[in-house]
Amino acid sequence: MPIDPAIAAKLRGVVPDIEFEMVGELIADINRLKAERNAIVLGHNYMTPDIFHGVSDLAGDSLQLARMAGETDADVIVMAGVHVMAETAKIVSPDKTVLIPTLGAGCSLAESITGADVRRLREEYPGVPVVTYVNTSAEVKAESDVCCTSSNAVGVVESLGADRVIFLPDKYLGQYVASQTDVEIILWHGTCIVHERFSAEELREYRSNTPDLDIIAHPECPPEVLAEADFVGSTSGMIAWVGEHHPRRVMMVTECSMSDNVAVEYPDVEFIRPCNLCPYMKTITLENIRASLEMMRYPVEVDPAVAVKARRAVDRMLAIGAADEPATARA
Ligand code: 13P
Repeated sequence: MPIDPAIAAKLRGVVPDIEFEMVGELIADINRLKAERNAIVLGHNYMTPDIFHGVSDLAGDSLQLARMAGETDADVIVMAGVHVMAETAKIVSPDKTVLIPTLGAGCSLAESITGADVRRLREEYPGVPVVTYVNTSAEVKAESDVCCTSSNAVGVVESLGADRVIFLPDKYLGQYVASQTDVEIILWHGTCIVHERFSAEELREYRSNTPDLDIIAHPECPPEVLAEADFVGSTSGMIAWVGEHHPRRVMMVTECSMSDNVAVEYPDVEFIRPCNLCPYMKTITLENIRASLEMMRYPVEVDPAVAVKARRAVDRMLAIGAADEPATARA
């Protein structure tokens, strides 16, 4: 099956010419295998353009991916994202086969906290509800009252009607939420290794050297970085901002591949790219997506007792919603 001309047009100039034929073959193989297996690929906004534009049936931020995983009619979901996103997909769609193309797709936030840590926090702060970012293990979600993502964290915290909440595990996202609400936020010490590396000084330097630069940032960045930004939002919130504002020049202060993906859609916007890559997201490749569909590997399993409890927290988040833009069909 030849590569779809619409996909080829998006990837020309993004994929190096010398790799174009090989990438085209991989994309064509994956799209054939998806049809044979009644499978879909859910692609996070941080995937490289060959995955994002080439094989993702639906692409989005983590809230959108969780919702899509619960709504799809496909038998098989391949998660082109990190392992915790695949676990969330399995939690909301327990009867489907959920595959993660490599077991190397971890997350520094998920690794920062265990279920036992949450139980200890509950003992320390009796009666205080626990809001947990979706970038956590199923075990941690199962110990939580409700999950959130960066697109709805403030709304989720406020939905509880509590004076104080425990917010896990990202301290910077928690600090951002605290800056947007009167609810007292008790923090954990997790951080994202991509966003914690940005500095306010670096952003100020870009701004003073680049005329007409708009800076938009992900709320996993430290507060002094967010203070330099013109807009703060989830990955999809940032993409929507570019669509609404059509800036002359923009810097997306987040994982680097996202600018590559969005630049394809907005050739008239100049993207200034400080390139912080997520080593975990970058373990997902066209090669291992194809292998995952060929060999049905690696299936994600969640202990059913844990999954039932985790699902309560995820469903509660999905009911609150708040992603302000619809999922985007890609391939
Ligand atoms: P989003 O929900 O904004 O896509 O963020 C997910 C993530 O992992 C950011 O590092």
